[in-house]
Amino acid sequence: ISKVIIFVIVATTLLCLVTPCINATMIRHGGDDLKTFVEIVNGHGYPCEQHYATTEDGYILGLFRIPYGRSGPSNQTRQPVLLQHGLLDSSITWIINEPSESLAYILADAGYDVWMGNNRGNTYSTNHTTIPVTDKRFWEFSFDHMGWYDLPTTVNYVRLATSYNSMPYIGHSEGTIQAFIGYMHNESLAEWAPLFLALGPVGNVTHISNNGLRLLADLRADDLLALFGEERFLPTPEKLRTTFVDFCIACDECCATVIEFLCGPHRGAFNDSRMPVVSGHEPAGTSVQNIRHWAQDVRSKQFQMFDYGPLGNYDHYKQLKPPVYDVSKFPSSVKVALFSGGLDELADPVDVADLVAQLPQQSVIDWQKIPDYAHLDYVWALDAHEIIYPVLIQLIQQSF
Ligand SMILES: *[C@@H]1O[C@H](CO)[C@@H](O)[C@H](O)[C@H]1NC(C)=O
Ligand SMILES: *[C@@H]1O[C@H](CO)[C@@H](O)[C@H](O)[C@H]1NC(C)=O
Ligand SMILES: *[C@@H]1O[C@H](CO)[C@@H](O)[C@H](O)[C@H]1NC(C)=O
Ligand SMILES: *[C@@H]1O[C@H](CO)[C@@H](O)[C@H](O)[C@H]1NC(C)=O
Ligand SMILES: *[C@@H]1O[C@H](CO)[C@@H](O)[C@H](O)[C@H]1NC(C)=O
Ligand SMILES: *[C@@H]1O[C@H](CO)[C@@H](O)[C@H](O)[C@H]1NC(C)=O
Repeated sequence: ISKVIIFVIVATTLLCLVTPCINATMIRHGGDDLKTFVEIVNGHGYPCEQHYATTEDGYILGLFRIPYGRSGPSNQTRQPVLLQHGLLDSSITWIINEPSESLAYILADAGYDVWMGNNRGNTYSTNHTTIPVTDKRFWEFSFDHMGWYDLPTTVNYVRLATSYNSMPYIGHSEGTIQAFIGYMHNESLAEWAPLFLALGPVGNVTHISNNGLRLLADLRADDLLALFGEERFLPTPEKLRTTFVDFCIACDECCATVIEFLCGPHRGAFNDSRMPVVSGHEPAGTSVQNIRHWAQDVRSKQFQMFDYGPLGNYDHYKQLKPPVYDVSKFPSSVKVALFSGGLDELADPVDVADLVAQLPQQSVIDWQKIPDYAHLDYVWALDAHEIIYPVLIQLIQQSF
């Protein structure tokens, strides 16, 4: 089997997972796809800053900040809020839609100082203090490390940059799994981010129903990729344009068939006019090890650390099997509000119910179920600003 074919199948699968509502004719170039993050935000009349935070293990993470909204700066300091993206995604996810529909702009206009993190290995976080990005050691990470290092580093950076000791944390998908891990690993987080708003929350992925990721797990495509010596998964959007996007432009029909099979029918919750932003910036890249970790958890039906195989596990964990994360150890002082969707193929309703049952009961302050929401709808759907964001702002106002 050719490396390229596997790569395209896997790329399609994952593109699908992050964009469940795309259809083939929507994939094209034009307008915002060539603009940078800062240019898009500035283009809507908002200020935007780029910052860099260095983790304890040397990764340089890019952060974006919208310090105030369209009404301009005020003399009062503003409460920071941290937003963290999902798998194969980046901070672009929070600004995909129009300002009246995107969470980052809405929070800025509501008076908050909005910070958006980026996990190691995505478009905005591909530097390290000592290891070059071309070195395979750079890519030896998975969502474990995003919980252990990236999250505490990002929260701490925002604290120090703003002189606010604590902030609400809003995570989507992988941004929630890394938070469950992070809060259990680093005690300071409970004090620094005492409110955790979880969109499409993920712990166990036992009941995952996304055809793509299931197929990937069953075929062990993740292991195949590793065998081929690939470390970096879906490199840059630029590179993706020349493969997947061009494939779709060249053959609408085949592209549509592949997308329908992997993603299910197009639901239309997403405004097609924003597709150029998506095809220009998504997916945002990660490591093959991270994809393997997701596929491993689908197979093992456990929320556990990366499985290096018996010898590797002994090396890393001093035991032959990877340690399992026990979310009943989640700090009970942190308030968690969860938002889950009836059509979510990644954060499956059954798995979310398991997760809620395991968390300390005094932690869970709210759990909202939106029957017709799929995995990206919390962030991208055209009615999220009516259904979800007012609730988020209300929960933030109750605690800050
Ligand atoms: C796909 O998107 C195009 C362009 O926005 C639209 O005209 C078409 O109806 C959509 N197809 C499906 C199957 O939804
Ligand atoms: C901010 O403070 C300055 C000086 O104290 C004052 O001149 C200005 O009117 C204030 N602006 C607002 C928006 O309150
Ligand atoms: C990261 O690396 C790229 C190229 O490798 C470089 O252009 C960029 O300036 C670097 N950014 C930081 C913050 O080190
Ligand atoms: C928690 O995170 C902070 C900021 O990255 C770090 O300084 C501290 O050492 C971490 N604590 C633990 C126990 O890992
Ligand atoms: C979709 O985008 C177009 C172009 O920006 C805009 O005119 C239209 O109002 C949008 N539709 C919705 C429902 O937001
Ligand atoms: C994950 O599934 C395992 C096995 O069914 C169960 O023991 C564990 O409690 C679950 N964890 C969560 C967070 O749901």
